[in-house]
Amino acid sequence: MTSAPLASPRPPPPIGVGIAGYGLAGRVFHATLVEHTPGLRLRAVFSRTAERRAQAAREHGGITLHHSYEALLDDSQVDLVVVATPHHTHEALVVQAAEAGKHVVVDKIMCLTVAEGERMIEAARRAGVLFSVFQNRRWDSDYLTVRAVLQSGMLGQPFVVESAVTSFGPSPGYRNPTSDRPRGWRTYAEFGGGPMRDWGAHLFDQAVQLAGPYPVSVYADLQYRRDWDVETAGTAWLRYPPGAGEREGLRYSIETGSISALPKPRWLIRGSEGAYLQYGRDGQEAALHRGEVGPRLMDAEHAPRVVRYLEGQVRDVAVEQVSGNYLAYYENVAAAVRGEAALAVEPAGVLESIRLLTEALDSAACGEVIGLRPPAAGLETSQVALPGSDL
Ligand SMILES: NC(=O)c1ccc[n+]([C@@H]2O[C@H](COP(=O)([O-])OP(=O)(O)OC[C@H]3O[C@@H](n4cnc5c(N)ncnc54)[C@H](OP(=O)(O)O)[C@@H]3O)[C@@H](O)[C@H]2O)c1
Repeated sequence: MTSAPLASPRPPPPIGVGIAGYGLAGRVFHATLVEHTPGLRLRAVFSRTAERRAQAAREHGGITLHHSYEALLDDSQVDLVVVATPHHTHEALVVQAAEAGKHVVVDKIMCLTVAEGERMIEAARRAGVLFSVFQNRRWDSDYLTVRAVLQSGMLGQPFVVESAVTSFGPSPGYRNPTSDRPRGWRTYAEFGGGPMRDWGAHLFDQAVQLAGPYPVSVYADLQYRRDWDVETAGTAWLRYPPGAGEREGLRYSIETGSISALPKPRWLIRGSEGAYLQYGRDGQEAALHRGEVGPRLMDAEHAPRVVRYLEGQVRDVAVEQVSGNYLAYYENVAAAVRGEAALAVEPAGVLESIRLLTEALDSAACGEVIGLRPPAAGLETSQVALPGSDL
């Protein structure tokens, strides 16, 4: 007797995704990445303007276009909502999505205050849905290479990490009105604009990943040089605690803004045994504009330069770059929704960076160094992870 062939297991049905907001983030980042992620299917887009809905329809066949957020949340084809709208809307849209029983991804900046973030996390917990923040720049090639170099210990004890994203003149998001104000929403404090919240959302998150969430103080200075109520440029300094070990007294600076006709290095790290210098940003955003996704190294002209103090001399040494890959973010979200993986970007961890960023904004407002409370019991500063430990 021949046995019946075993039926091959059916793949799980794709997770339906609905995107709220079809601007730079919704269109270029999320729609493209979702379309390329196995297990996810773009089902719907919500935008208030007919023009953007028509663009989404042209670019993605077979999706439903919604002119209200409520309609997107009522759409039974949508399991996961991606919030890609201006910063001041994030809390309300995430809470509404969770209460409608949808899993939810919100683009950075997660929230404008720690209290907002706590309410978002609580809403998702109560509803039993997945909630994550699109911290895609944890998958930048420049950041991953820095992380690997710090972990390797080749720079010795890091004294100062400088992380900067600088440009010259307002970026398109500042010039082109995309909201109900004459300039773009990024130029208004009431919409949560300003480069320290915009780029700072990435740079503070990376700082927490690299150096831990518990500096002992933060100081920031913001410069206002336009007739806008958001800063033109700003720098924040995090001072990590003194004490034994390789991370003793680390200083970590974060600079953002649009005053640099010559860019600052993206990373300058000085350590007891060497230094790391790298200019230029990860190329994935530019690639996404061309519709290209997947693993990518820094362009050749942006390769890092690393020197070590060896046998009494400072010498250049080779470092292997690590590929960036934003698809990894959505592959993880899909696996986490299916219960097959732990969520890579937990909102509670992102909230640590929001706490530091809002302290920095407070410091800039009062012009003083802000001392930070020691962590609660069980979260000792010894958990700070630089270098050589598993970050
Ligand atoms: N992770 C990254 O690398 C990255 C890159 C870029 C942006 N972002 C983030 O993505 C988010 C959106 O930025 P963006 O550059 O895409 O902005 P954008 O180009 O101005 O697009 C914003 C979108 O939100 C919609 N919108 C505006 N106000 C709204 C409101 N009050 N309620 C609902 N929808 C509203 C707009 O569409 P309608 O007016 O047609 O509704 C528009 O489609 C921000 O959080 C930003 O920081 C992240």
